[in-house]
Amino acid sequence: MSPEPVLLGIESSCDETACAVVRGGREVLASVVASQIDLHARFGGVVPEIASRAHIEAINQVVAAAMDAAGVGSASVAAVAVTHEPGLIGSLLVGLMAAKTLAWAWSVPLIGVNHVHAHAYAPALDAEPIDYPAVALICSGGHTALYRYDAPTKATLLGSTIDDAAGEAFDKVASILALGYPGGPVIDRVARSGNPEALRFPRTLLKGQSLDFSFSGVKTAVRYHVNGLPGSGEPRRARRRPGAALKRLAAMPNAGRGVGNLTEREIADVAASFQAAVVDVLRIKLRRAAVQVGARTLLVGGGVAANSALRAAAETLARKLHCTLRMPALRFCVDNAAMTAGLAYHRLAAGEVDDLSLAACATVRR
Ligand code: KG4
Ligand code: ZN
Repeated sequence: MSPEPVLLGIESSCDETACAVVRGGREVLASVVASQIDLHARFGGVVPEIASRAHIEAINQVVAAAMDAAGVGSASVAAVAVTHEPGLIGSLLVGLMAAKTLAWAWSVPLIGVNHVHAHAYAPALDAEPIDYPAVALICSGGHTALYRYDAPTKATLLGSTIDDAAGEAFDKVASILALGYPGGPVIDRVARSGNPEALRFPRTLLKGQSLDFSFSGVKTAVRYHVNGLPGSGEPRRARRRPGAALKRLAAMPNAGRGVGNLTEREIADVAASFQAAVVDVLRIKLRRAAVQVGARTLLVGGGVAANSALRAAAETLARKLHCTLRMPALRFCVDNAAMTAGLAYHRLAAGEVDDLSLAACATVRR
């Protein structure tokens, strides 16, 4: 039996420059991630131009570090995998150019990988193969989507966000609460000392059995609760039709005082109540999708899959549905290149490879 192929993966779709070496689609020989969080923190979010430049500065070192850590030479690499969609276009291009250069220099195939599908594959890393059909909830800073998977590379989109991504809502609410960036991990931590039932933030489920998501409402509800309903000085867009639920939240006795006047306890309550609202929506939609598909496995991936409340809710749901729950190890929840190389192994095995004309694509909905 010939040894399983080793793939080098590159990921640069947002604010992490990552390279990994993976054998046989699951055995992670090395996974190196250079985070840019410190560069973007003072802006409260990712600044695309800064991200692209930081990728250029980091990429060669990150690739060298991954090859070193894996202890493999270039002659052992069977293919180079790279995230080519979706993401920040300038950031994607840096990884793509590096991958094309390596594939050309080493005379091996180049394989373009969709970042969202890579997140759904992450639970298989350093773990057992996934049992299909599976339903995947992918929630990160840039994406929130539900997919049906019949194989690692056979996906059907069931629903996605019509406005903010779940992680984006975490980041924006953390900013409203002056908790810093990135918001997800800090809200997760602060929420532990808060009461998730203190405030009833809206759960937007959309019409009928929709599997799409919307998180802009809950974010606005938090803003109105903390800062009060917008007055005439606010921009026109923000003044549009606050619904009954928002008015109720904004009219509560402790509402509208501004974050500076809230106690630590009150901030923790807002964080916990917000997190509960987001997790409820994610759980309800994941359940709907799993039932619709008759899934054997639930997959939860993306940065928000690191959230402790979501992980607990997914565990309870899987037990009720008698499904197997597969969530990535925490280091494979956030952006990494092991998931890129891992997923590309299945494309290589199927003979699906790209050539040097492969393009980067900022958005994709499939
Ligand atoms: O997957 P990822 O690294 O990047 C994208 O592809 O977008 O996800 C980053 C997102 C950020 O919005 C961050 O706030 C969120 O994941 N995140 C979390 C947690 N850890 C990271 N959200 C909620 N709870 C967490 N523990
Ligand atoms: Zn991601």
